[in-house]
Parts: sequence; C-alpha cells; structure tokens
Amino acid sequence: MKSLAVFPSSREVRLIDTPEPVVAGPTEVKLRILEAGVCGTDREITSFQYGTPPANCPHLVIGHEALGEVTDVGSGVTGLAPGDLAVPMVRRPCPHDRCAPCRRGRPDFCITGDFTERGIKGAHGYMTEFIVDDQRYMVKVPKELREVAVLLEPLTVAEKAAEQVRALAARLPGELKDDPSSLSAVVLGAGPIGLLGAMKLVNGGFHTWVYSRDSADSPNVKIASAIGARFVSSAEHSPVELAQLVGNISLVYEATGAAKVSFEVLSVLGVNGVFIFTGVPGVLAPIEIDAERIMRNLVLNNQVICGTVNAGRAAFEEGVQDLASFVKRFPAAVSALITARVVLDDARDAVLSRGGIKSVIAVA
Ligand code: BGC
Repeated sequence: MKSLAVFPSSREVRLIDTPEPVVAGPTEVKLRILEAGVCGTDREITSFQYGTPPANCPHLVIGHEALGEVTDVGSGVTGLAPGDLAVPMVRRPCPHDRCAPCRRGRPDFCITGDFTERGIKGAHGYMTEFIVDDQRYMVKVPKELREVAVLLEPLTVAEKAAEQVRALAARLPGELKDDPSSLSAVVLGAGPIGLLGAMKLVNGGFHTWVYSRDSADSPNVKIASAIGARFVSSAEHSPVELAQLVGNISLVYEATGAAKVSFEVLSVLGVNGVFIFTGVPGVLAPIEIDAERIMRNLVLNNQVICGTVNAGRAAFEEGVQDLASFVKRFPAAVSALITARVVLDDARDAVLSRGGIKSVIAVA
C-alpha cells in the first residue's frame, strides 16, 4: 500500500510502498483510511524540524489526523464493527511502571517523555491506506459526520483545553464556572485550530473574539464572522486596543504558535483570566516581553497560564458531540474549513505547500 513518509537522515519526503497491516490480536481494529488531514505539525516534520521515526526505521509515515472505515476486527472487539466510521487517537503510553498518567490511560500527561505519537514520534501515522490499532485508541463516529470527521483530531485540541478550563474554573466562586454568557473569550489565530476553538467557545455561550493577522476579507475571517465571533485585526490593532474593544478578557485560547503576539496578549488578560497555550513555536532567538507587567497582573488579577498538548479519549468523545452540534448550528462554516481535498498521489505536494485553511488527503 502507498504511504507518505519522511526520511530525516536523507531529508526526503516521498510516497513509499509499505506492507498492509493485519489484525493480529483479539482487541485490534483495522481501518481503511478515508481521509487524512494536513496540519502545521506535518509541515514541521516534512521540513525536518520535528518528528522521529520508529526505532530502527529510517522513515516515518506521517499523518495524525484521520478518519477511517472499519474493515476488520479481532474476536474481542466490542463497540466497533466492519462498516463503522472511526477516528484513531494520536498518543500511545510509555512503557514505564512509574508513569502514573500512562498507566491510568492518560498518556497526554506522560511524565517520562517516552510516549509515542502516531505520525509524529516513534510510530507510523495515517497518511496511508490501512492502519491497525487497539480498539482503545479508536473513537467511533456517526455516519452523518463522514464529510467533516477528519476535523475531529484538531478539534480535540480545543476539547482538551476546555477540560483544563473547567478544572481551573473550579477555583472561582462563579462566572467561568457557572455561566460564560457574560464573559468574553479571545481566540488568537484563525487557522483550523483557532476556528474550531472559536466554534466551541461560541457554542459554549462566550462572547467570542478572534484576533489574527488575516485580512478582513479572508475566508478564515468570513468563517469567524459566520459563526458569530467578532474579528479584530492584529495588523491594525495592538493588544491594548483589543482589550479596550473586548472589555475584561476572561479567557484566551492561543492557536498561533507565535510567542510574541501571545505574550503581548497575555499582558492584557483580564481579572481572574485564564490563558491557554496550544501552539508549538520553533525555538527561535529570545524575544523581549513585558515580564514585570505580566507578573504583576498574574498576581493582582488571579490569573492562570496553562499549556495543553494532545488529548485523551474523553476529549475525542466530547469532540464527536460538538462536531455534530457545529454541523447543525453552522453547517457551511464547518465545511468551509476544508479548503482542498487531494488524492494520496498528490499528498506530498499538499503537505509541502501552504495556503488554504485545511487540506485533506482523500485516500479512499
Ligand atoms: C497533535 C498532537 C500532538 C502534538 C505534539 C499536534 O499537532 O495534534 O496530538 O501531541 O502535535 O506532537
């Protein structure tokens, strides 16, 4: 079968022929990949800044956002049958007994760093024709979501963030905990992660603002407006002006991977505010930030900064519910997130090129 792989030592990205996997254990599930999404992480891996092949393998099959159709199941599989749609999760636990998060099914909080991530770190991914994995890493998706379920994995970034916000809001006497309808949230960035996060916030009742460098007539900003979020251009308005427009910023959902603008917005976070970082910047030269102001505000305003990576099973399951609700509430906006669909033979070009919101490899 065809798979898109990177060869870090020779710095190549190409389609290769790999053996079709088979169901070998009772709880394994085989998926025919229908679609695989392209994201910034894939672009970093194919420009050799990130990504690690499995041990003793010169290449890594990339892709960690996918939707598949079940074609085969082991004798002990429950809840999934041939013909069902499923989305595979990304991270797999480390092998160490001392890692309580991995032993308790939360490798997203792995403490040893020896976790693997399919398509990213130490395990082959989903830009291929078939995969096999244990049922515990497969999330069933209703057939009605066939056209958009490839967006589930990027949505889980917002779902895990929401899980973190709920835990952090528990410290507060009210508001963020009980009723977000009087609160304002700012999304930084209007790429797929930002726009899916904005949908989750709008759906959750927040006054939602999107702050990005996109132009007002870009498709990204049109989607933000279509779902009822308000757009502020970071090219035209400073973070201080953003805060004047928004009022008290209770929540920031960062989805840019850009440290400078993120820390500038952190310096205008509001009272009792929570700032969630999801982006992974390249490690570039140090930048100047207004650390005195940030520290002063953190203390005097009871603020919290929280980083979040990957997502556990609950986030995938909540994502399935949310995706169904987004499709009901703003169907055109959800579909408009997918701006290109290309066949597997053209996957290399799709991963190496930029532009559009979300490119998807239509494998089957
Ligand atoms: C993926 C996550 C992963 C992270 C870091 C993201 O693109 O969505 O699942 O944990 O990259 O490798």
